[in-house]
Amino acid sequence: MKERIGIIGAMESEVATLIPALTEHAEQKIGIVVYHVGKLDGRDVVVARSGVGKVNAALTAAEMIRTFGATAIVNTGVAGALEETLNPEDAVIATDLVQHDYDTTPFDPPGCVSGIGQVKIPVDPVIAASAAAAARALGMRVLEGTVASGDQFISDGKKKAWIRDTFGAFACEMEGAAIAQACYLLGARCAVIRTISDRADGKADVDFPSFAARAAALNAQIVRRVLPSI
Ligand code: ADE
Repeated sequence: MKERIGIIGAMESEVATLIPALTEHAEQKIGIVVYHVGKLDGRDVVVARSGVGKVNAALTAAEMIRTFGATAIVNTGVAGALEETLNPEDAVIATDLVQHDYDTTPFDPPGCVSGIGQVKIPVDPVIAASAAAAARALGMRVLEGTVASGDQFISDGKKKAWIRDTFGAFACEMEGAAIAQACYLLGARCAVIRTISDRADGKADVDFPSFAARAAALNAQIVRRVLPSI
């Protein structure tokens, strides 16, 4: 099987500028996900819109690794800011990821994944460093650190503060930690690259629809600049 880079976005806007840029494009549908195989800027890739949330994301990552031969997965998309200085259109590059809604606290600390025994799942440091450099080269403000994922759209100041303070996380979204865990368990490299669309507060329901499309497109530019270093 040909070695490929997998690129996962949860929503249409997160893959909208990548799929039309594919050459030698072929499609395969598995379940409700369409896998777009082809070349992006000369690299062999498989691109898919996983759907929102951790289960969709983990399934798509596993399929890319096992069925399509992906040896590295890049998760592209938008995120809510947890760190107070972050603004829409700033980039957050994950150094590691946590599932903020994984809770077996009678037995283990918040976020600790049973069977793995870790709260934070690391990503590939080389790809992460290259993504941070690529975002800076695009003129974006960049923070590198923990990203928190959960099956919740965060739009509440108290919940936001709890996730930030419990895990030391800079941004929240709904897929990255699941992709990182799938990659960790199946032996693929992983990167989670996100651009801020909202502040995960009481205004997130208004900010998200106004900023998401532009933030997602900006983020896809970072991803394309990272491909040569993977
Ligand atoms: N993705 C973008 N903004 C988000 C938020 N506020 N919560 C969860 N996922 C997000």
